Amino acid sequence: MRIFSGIQPTGRKHLGNYIGAIRQYVEGQARAAQGDGLAIFCIVDLHAITVAYDPVELRERTYDTTALLIAAGLDPESCILFRQSDVPEQTELCWLLSSVTAHGDLNRMHQFKEKSEVQRELISAGLFFYPVLQAADVLAYRCDEVPVGEDQRQHIELMRDIAERFNARFADGGEILVAPEHRIPGVGARIMDLQDPSSKMSTTAASEEGTIYVLDEPEMIKRKFNRAVTDSDDPPRIAVDPAKQGVSNLLDILAACKGITPDEAAAELAEARGYGDLKGAVSDAVAEMLAPVRERYEQMRGDEAALEQILVRGAEQAREIAAVTLGEVRSAMGVGPVG
Ligand code: TYM
Repeated sequence: MRIFSGIQPTGRKHLGNYIGAIRQYVEGQARAAQGDGLAIFCIVDLHAITVAYDPVELRERTYDTTALLIAAGLDPESCILFRQSDVPEQTELCWLLSSVTAHGDLNRMHQFKEKSEVQRELISAGLFFYPVLQAADVLAYRCDEVPVGEDQRQHIELMRDIAERFNARFADGGEILVAPEHRIPGVGARIMDLQDPSSKMSTTAASEEGTIYVLDEPEMIKRKFNRAVTDSDDPPRIAVDPAKQGVSNLLDILAACKGITPDEAAAELAEARGYGDLKGAVSDAVAEMLAPVRERYEQMRGDEAALEQILVRGAEQAREIAAVTLGEVRSAMGVGPVG
C-alpha cells in the first residue's frame, strides 16, 4: 500500500488542514509502516506559485511547513518528506499527462473557479493547470491512497480519469499508471470558518478571527472559539443540523478531536446550559490537541540547515521512484530515444 499527499507551503496552516489532512498523514505513515507500505508527503511549492506570492516568503513557508509536519508526527525516517520543486520528474510528467487531460474537465474544477474569483491581479494559466500537476504528483509514485480533505475530491477524481485515459491510450490494456483512491476522513473533512460557517476555513478567503491556526496559543484559541458565530435559537439547541451551520461545525471539530461522531459529541453536551459550554469544550479539546505540535514546532523551526537536509534526502528517495515511472511513461508515449 502506497500513500501520497501534498500540502501547500502558503500561509499558516490551520485547523482544517490539521484535522482534514495532516492527522491522516500521520495515521497513514503508521499504517504504511505496519504493512509493507510507503508513505510519501510533498510540500508543493510549485503549486503555491500559481497565485500571487512573495518569493522570499515562499522559501520561509516551505521550512515552516516542513517543521510543522514533523512536529505533527511525520518522521523522515519512516516516510519520504520532500519539496516538489526538487523533483523535476513530476513537472515533466505533468506536461506528458496534459495530453490525456481534457480541457473541458479542467474548466469544471471548483477550486479553479473559487481561486480565480478572488485573484485581484493575474489569473495565471498555472492556476488552471494546477490539477494536472497534482495528478502528476500522485501518479509519479503509483500510489493507491491519497489522504485529503473534502475540497480535494474533484482533483482526485480527475487524476483517476487521467490515469485511466493514459492506460487505455498507451498501456495496451495494462497498467502503467495507478488510479488512486481518495481517503477523506468521515469527521472533519470540511472544517468551516468560525465567523462565517457557510465558508470553509482557509488561509486565503476567511477572516483571521474565524481561522484557528495550528500554532495559535491556547488563549488565542479560546478567544476565537468564544467569538464563534452560532445562532439565536432560544433556548439554545446543541445538535447536528444543516440549518445550524455554526453549531454543527463546532460539534464536528469537537468530535474530530475526541475521535467520536458529531452526534455523540452533541449527546455528551446534553446537560449544557448553552452555547458557552459547547465553545468551552471545543476550545479545550483543540488547545489540548495542538499544544504538543506547537511546542515541538518551536524546538525545530530554528534549525533550517537540518530541515533542508531532511528535504534534500527526501527528494533523493522520491526521485528514484518517480524516475522509473517517468521512464515507462516516456517510453510508452514514444517520447525520446528507445529506452
Ligand atoms: P492545501 O495546502 O491547500 O491543503 C492541504 C490539505 O488540507 C485540506 N483542507 C481542509 N480539510 C478540512 N477542512 C478544511 N477547511 C480544509 N482546508 C484544507 C485539503 O483538502 C488538503 O488535503 N491541492 C492540495 C495540494 C496538493 C495535493 C497534491 C494533495 C498538491 N498535490 C497531491 C494531494 C495529492 C491542497 O489543496 O493543499
